[in-house]
Amino acid sequence: MSVALVTGCAGFIGSHLSERLIQEGYQVKGIDCFLDYYPRPIKENNLKNLLKEKNFSFVEADILKVDLMNLLDGVEYIFHEAAQAGVRASWGKNFEIYTQNNILATQVLLETAKELSTLKKFVYASSSSVYGDTDILPMHEDGTPKPVSPYGVSKLANEHLCYLYFKNFGIPTISLRYFTVYGPRQRPDMAFNKFISAILQNKEIQIYGEGNQTRDFTFIRDIVEATFAASQTDVNGEVFNIGGGSRVTLIQVINLIGEILDKPVKMQYTEPQHGDVLHTWANISKAQKILNYNPLVSLKEGLKEEIDWLRDSANR
Ligand SMILES: NC(=O)c1ccc[n+]([C@@H]2O[C@H](COP(=O)([O-])OP(=O)(O)OC[C@H]3O[C@@H](n4cnc5c(N)ncnc54)[C@H](O)[C@@H]3O)[C@@H](O)[C@H]2O)c1
Repeated sequence: MSVALVTGCAGFIGSHLSERLIQEGYQVKGIDCFLDYYPRPIKENNLKNLLKEKNFSFVEADILKVDLMNLLDGVEYIFHEAAQAGVRASWGKNFEIYTQNNILATQVLLETAKELSTLKKFVYASSSSVYGDTDILPMHEDGTPKPVSPYGVSKLANEHLCYLYFKNFGIPTISLRYFTVYGPRQRPDMAFNKFISAILQNKEIQIYGEGNQTRDFTFIRDIVEATFAASQTDVNGEVFNIGGGSRVTLIQVINLIGEILDKPVKMQYTEPQHGDVLHTWANISKAQKILNYNPLVSLKEGLKEEIDWLRDSANR
């Protein structure tokens, strides 16, 4: 039986990925420290199914404080999903939270992985935010990343750490640049979660800027499949874009949500936010070729799943 460690297993992506690995017959060790970026009960709920699985074990701890050698004993696959997420919150004094939980936590994990003879792959969850405002669309892995938020800088720093631990010590790292992920369990600070909740409650939606910014949205199941596929390749030291293939403006998404819910949409326009990029759009040809990655879930289909989940959560 393969043994995997999933960091950030109580989060949005980490919990789905852990469930997928259990389904695949893996023994999964999960670690999460319940950062207070969003409420703990939401994360406890993400873990609910996993805690019933005999092949899942959970450690509530901070990567920076736990005995990592002990935690990593026998681990063959590390899926490093833990991070302080969020672009807008990464300015000012908060940056310390990002340096600790993103950069330092990744560095200590890689240092420990160096000593691990069982390790087959270290998959790092990077982000499209490393690109910043590029003129070259769709974004290509060969383009020069120029993040425009401190969060993006921390995610890019980690990609470099992954690469240099591969180059110097042969750690089999691979970095995946996820493009805006959505679906059931999406974080409450993320746009779709906020838009759907607002429309369901007949509240106004706050739009930063004019709403013409575009995003390449990726459904959670496609992200999970790409992440699993990355763990199975022989390719190391590389970076891959993982996008959903549906690039739309914010206004288009909001109107689509209104249409699916068959409810009127009220919008209020406010100032653009520092650190938000104007456009994201993934060139996924490298992932298609090497990881055999093909996003399968359409925006409409994926939105319906997120809506059903949010309705269920509201009823609970
Ligand atoms: N959600 C997206 O659209 C998106 C896009 C690009 C990249 N990513 C990346 O994917 C990963 C998962 O994102 P998510 O949306 O699931 O976020 P999330 O906040 O839901 O999950 C991250 C989890 O990591 C945990 N964590 C943070 N620091 C930790 C530490 N030091 N020790 C132990 N646990 C710690 C948090 O408590 C949290 O539960 C992150 O690395 C994020 O940067 C996400």
